[in-house]
Amino acid sequence: MAESLALTPDLPRAERYRELLPQLRAMLEGETDTIANLANTAAALRQAFGFFWVGFYLVKPTPGATDDTQLVLGPFQGPIACTRIARGRGVCGSAWEQKQTLIVPDVNAFPGHIACASDSQSEIVVPMFDESGDVWAVLDVDSDRLDDFSEVDRDALEQLVAWLIPGAT
Ligand code: SME
Repeated sequence: MAESLALTPDLPRAERYRELLPQLRAMLEGETDTIANLANTAAALRQAFGFFWVGFYLVKPTPGATDDTQLVLGPFQGPIACTRIARGRGVCGSAWEQKQTLIVPDVNAFPGHIACASDSQSEIVVPMFDESGDVWAVLDVDSDRLDDFSEVDRDALEQLVAWLIPGAT
């Protein structure tokens, strides 16, 4: 695809996803490198919706520990963020552990939320599964508005992350 997105101004979110997703799919199908695809996906989501922070955390071995893994910061768009998150910690670690998408309307009311940035008010975290059904990464989208995510985001983002392939280069 062209190296730019065609985005109609001021579309409601569901329509914006309908416009964006085919373009993203074409972009992802045209490139096999995983990091490149994660990076452009984060940029595309931030550009299309103006979210405060969009990025990926990847499941990686914990340094110095055999047989243990943690989430490590991957490609993202937005302010600098915490680099490592343990399984079960915060929204990202919980979505990983529970293997399901979590929508948090008010991060300050979420027990154990990791406050990387005080401007973040609500978020959605979508786990990403490999062919064995294991989580290999999570997509984390943060908004500076309360209650900014719904089933519209869940449906679109779950569809989108299925196009991202772990470890492909
Ligand atoms: N909010 C996340 C931490 C990552 S940052 O917000 C970028 C969490 O609680 O898992």
